[in-house]
Amino acid sequence: AKRVRVHHLQAAKARGERLTMLTAYDAVTARIFDDAGVDMLLVGDSIGNTMHGHRTTLPVTVEDMIPAARAVAGAAQRAFVVVDLPFGSYEAGPTQALETAVRIMKATGADAVKLEGGRRSAAQIRALTDAGIPVVGHLGYTPQSENLLGGPRVQGRGDEAAAELSTDAVAVADAGAVAVVLEMVPAPVAARVTEIVAIPTIGIGAGTECDGQVLVWVDMAGMGDWSPRFAKRFGEVGAALRAAATAYVDEVRARTFPDDEHSFRS
Ligand code: KIV
Ligand code: NA
Repeated sequence: AKRVRVHHLQAAKARGERLTMLTAYDAVTARIFDDAGVDMLLVGDSIGNTMHGHRTTLPVTVEDMIPAARAVAGAAQRAFVVVDLPFGSYEAGPTQALETAVRIMKATGADAVKLEGGRRSAAQIRALTDAGIPVVGHLGYTPQSENLLGGPRVQGRGDEAAAELSTDAVAVADAGAVAVVLEMVPAPVAARVTEIVAIPTIGIGAGTECDGQVLVWVDMAGMGDWSPRFAKRFGEVGAALRAAATAYVDEVRARTFPDDEHSFRS
């Protein structure tokens, strides 16, 4: 299948075709999701929570992101690979953002980067875009600001907050972003943003009217006991994996594995 390129995102919105995005943090899962036809793979800084056992995304570093992004970009045949700029690697200004993004693009072979924030990040989005790096925005609940926002809470509730969110979305689009993630936003607000910006909106807990959808893969696959309310469990892969590991342990202990079939005779 042909690679998903930046112009396909715009074309999908124009044709009313839904865009699909999942996180991936390694080659094993990237290959599976790419094969399943997922349009965009996000090497999210959610790697901090999901893979590295941190409570938040704040401790994640560029050094954490690079090997993960290299593995995902290397494994993806078709999907458009987006890499998060982690907390502390772009907020200082366009110069810092450009340094970080160039480093990631050179080291990984990814297609784009993602960063959080609207008007406050517009200069960074513009600088990266001018340098030829596609940028995905991220509005609504932005996990890198969780201390300021008071944890994972719906953003853009009420007329004033909804208007602020719309203004941010327009700023992100005007700065050159190729798409924007909307996280934990009331459905009507996300629908309105989707209407007013020309770039695709990718929702997560943002209702039914976004141009695309993203989920954290461990939530999508049911890897843990708990998933957020907006993340449907499309499988019980955690339970399946535990059952496989349990069967393995049992067979090794019972001396039924390895058997002759899985041994070398000479
Ligand atoms: O890091 C991440 O997984 C994300 C998605 C939730 C959009 O930013
Ligand atoms: Na993220």
